[in-house]
Amino acid sequence: MIAVAIDGPAGAGKSTLARRLAKHKGFIYVDTGALYRAVGLKMLRNNVSCDNLKAVEELLASTELDIRFVEGEQVVMLDNENVNGLIRTPEVSMMASDCSALPIVRAFLLDMQRNLAKRNSVVMDGRDIGTVVLPDAKVKIFLTASPLARAKRRCNELLEKGMTVELTEVLKDIEQRDYNDSHRDIAPLKQAEDAALVDTTELDLDGSFELLLKTVDALAEEK
Ligand code: DC
Repeated sequence: MIAVAIDGPAGAGKSTLARRLAKHKGFIYVDTGALYRAVGLKMLRNNVSCDNLKAVEELLASTELDIRFVEGEQVVMLDNENVNGLIRTPEVSMMASDCSALPIVRAFLLDMQRNLAKRNSVVMDGRDIGTVVLPDAKVKIFLTASPLARAKRRCNELLEKGMTVELTEVLKDIEQRDYNDSHRDIAPLKQAEDAALVDTTELDLDGSFELLLKTVDALAEEK
């Protein structure tokens, strides 16, 4: 099995590029952020806050989370409900970021992620894939872009889905999430020592994919 670990901040194009890379290589694409989002959704639905660790623990104990692949696409099943269409709102994004700082939440999701990589060749994207989840991954990428470039992309994505949002609001959200994700005590967002940096600030999607593919192939050959 081969694992490509792709980490980086929100909105750097990880999921789009990782999905495309997985298709190109014939690997499974695993979006680990969706798992944190599903946990965040359940917490919002049940009015459980991150401050109440006991309630979070109880909630997790009664949570069944599963990933399925339908025609190559990842489907997140939360208590037997397909929640793919419900986990991309700004509210869930913020809750996912908040709850991902809790060790019990990270521990809850760790084995699931490792098992997926044991059974399949994967392109897995997240924040701590190269550092914690798959430290032995053959290829590690840290994919990033400037906060403004990422905010502009996210605005366009949301616009395409019919949601109107202010760039300044999105930028604020991105900066807040960057801060949260990289300052938490456990498994913070950071570049693994042996990860290659891919910066897509100045590149469009095709240019970013070309650079990513070139970098991945070079790393795979090296090892
Ligand atoms: O990639 P994303 O934006 O969908 O992830 C949502 C949140 O989940 C993100 O703010 C941080 C958290 N996350 C994490 O802590 N570790 C991962 N491997 C993936 C996501």
